[in-house]
Amino acid sequence: MVCLGNICRSPLAEGIMQSKIKDHQLSWEVDSAGTSAYHSGEKPDSRSIEIAFRNGIDISEQRSRQILDSDFENFDLILVMDALNYNSVYRMAKDINQKKKVKMIMNYAAPDQNLEVPDPYWNNGFDKVYAMLEEACEKIVTSYRP
Ligand code: 4NP
Repeated sequence: MVCLGNICRSPLAEGIMQSKIKDHQLSWEVDSAGTSAYHSGEKPDSRSIEIAFRNGIDISEQRSRQILDSDFENFDLILVMDALNYNSVYRMAKDINQKKKVKMIMNYAAPDQNLEVPDPYWNNGFDKVYAMLEEACEKIVTSYRP
């Protein structure tokens, strides 16, 4: 799960997916990262921690990190929040196999529309972001679970 800062959107996506992995007893691994290192080592934004907590999910132990080249080898999917993230991540991919792993997360909820999860950092909108990510993660689980 990838966004710009790895403090607002992608920590929520990681937390929501981790919760579904547990509920469905899936042997999947999820992690999150930012395209930037602006907030490396920091906890998620307090507004993300709060909305996750209200939905029964604790993301307070997550720490921000920047995406690594090795993530393209270690993960089958690299799910991004918006077009800016997509371009940054796509440019890091080393071959066609790695490029194919990069997807806009909302395309699972609304196929082929390239909808963006809006950056809530400056303008709020965490409720909407949470609802969007919940819907996308549910669709991802139903698409891929055995
Ligand atoms: P995120 O939100 O990409 O959802 O974690 C942001 C967090 C920080 C900044 C931008 C977006 N920033 O510019 O510091």
